Amino acid sequence: MPKYEPVLLKNILTPGYAGDLAAYERAGGYQAIRKVLKEYQPEQVIDLVKRSGLRGRGGAGFPTGTKWSFIPKDPSVPKYLCVNADESEPGTFKDRELIERDPHQMIEGTLIAAYAIGAKVAYIYIRGEFTLGAKVLARALDEARAKGYIGTNVCGSGREIQVWLHRGAGAYICGEETALIESIEGKRGLPRAKPPFPAINGLYQRPTVVNNVETLGNLPHIINRGVEWYTSLGTAKSPGTRIFSVSGHVNRPGNYEVPLGIPLRELIEEHAGGVRNGHRIKAIIPGGASAAFFTPEHLDVKLDFESVAQAGSMLGSGGVTIMDETTCMVWAAYNLMGFFHHESCGKCTPCREGSGWLHTILGRIEHGEGRAEDLAQLEHLCGNIAGKTVCAFGDAEVAPVLSTLKHFREEYEAHIREKRCPMGERVLAHAGH
Ligand SMILES: Cc1cc2nc3c(=O)[nH]c(=O)nc-3n(C[C@H](O)[C@H](O)[C@H](O)COP(=O)(O)O)c2cc1C
Ligand code: SF4
Repeated sequence: MPKYEPVLLKNILTPGYAGDLAAYERAGGYQAIRKVLKEYQPEQVIDLVKRSGLRGRGGAGFPTGTKWSFIPKDPSVPKYLCVNADESEPGTFKDRELIERDPHQMIEGTLIAAYAIGAKVAYIYIRGEFTLGAKVLARALDEARAKGYIGTNVCGSGREIQVWLHRGAGAYICGEETALIESIEGKRGLPRAKPPFPAINGLYQRPTVVNNVETLGNLPHIINRGVEWYTSLGTAKSPGTRIFSVSGHVNRPGNYEVPLGIPLRELIEEHAGGVRNGHRIKAIIPGGASAAFFTPEHLDVKLDFESVAQAGSMLGSGGVTIMDETTCMVWAAYNLMGFFHHESCGKCTPCREGSGWLHTILGRIEHGEGRAEDLAQLEHLCGNIAGKTVCAFGDAEVAPVLSTLKHFREEYEAHIREKRCPMGERVLAHAGH
């Protein structure tokens, strides 16, 4: 018996579940959109989702119903829904599984959200690398169109909701909501300065909501099972379940759906099978590569938005990466910075130039050429990037550096003092060199 009842992963975990329209309908699918169209005004759906306390699963954890309520009500103004299926955060792979193995759950959620905000058109923006996901979604959209769930007369209600698939070209920044919007418009994916926010001036300068795949996947369940059921899961401020993508040095990496608020230790030890080869945990990233590192001291932190933030990191995208004692933390920061430097879109000088300098300095420390003043230089650079850029990528790229400097400073100092990586060969062996 599983300890918790899966909600979003329930179908996927059912043996033999094919993920096509017939299978989804047999499992109770598309009942929620029928109910919504028949029984609720759009305002009532927004109110229900507000009362459910659902918070976005894409990174920032903003309350979904509140975000929807910023959309102007004027029916003559076209509005858009963009589904963020870009999932580029390193260590995060939950949306991919939801898309590839149960696409209709997400499509039903998309229809509910589009109805609630009065959008006749929704775009699913899927990252370029998700070739299988794009194929599966294209087929699922065709099935849903043929059965009248998508089109000019959704379920015979007289309502029009079109859903189109848009493939990205594989840039991390296109997961940022305004860069995603620019990309759908056919432009280079650069974030826009905010305000104005997409709710007022989004896709094609029209009111737009951008929602994550997992966020939308919750909607059919909230409609079918009600607000009370939903708020009975998780914590008061972070209700519901969350899919955590667990990777790194654990025995059973994978996606695990649990109620928000379980301790980090339980996720790692009971669900992911503990650390491989009986090793000890050294560091944990609790919410994707943009989140500050935790240490074993944080194993009792509860996995909900508030508790993780209070402990100095963020729940972010739900990607939990475990590193054991064989990991060199300077190497880990260097490696992550290589990613951030490569993916900086280049729009702001602090991020474009700063990520390169951070990468260079981390590299020379890791390779035994660090200088005594390098640690202060790293901190100085981070202080000139965070909070000084157009988008939150700037804050993201400094998190691994500042948190490893905070928790593993003696390891940086040993690299500089000994003029080599103290873990050297072991690290290279793990990296496959
Ligand atoms: C650099 C950057 C990358 C992001 N990448 C993603 C992503 O891959 N997927 C995602 O859903 N949200 C991503 N986000 C968050 C989105 O901008 C946006 O907040 C989210 O899609 C909103 O959906 P939600 O309210 O359902 O969470 C990213 C944000 C930033 C700053
Ligand atoms: S912070 Fe970086 S990724 Fe974001 S807009 Fe500026 S340069 Fe681009």
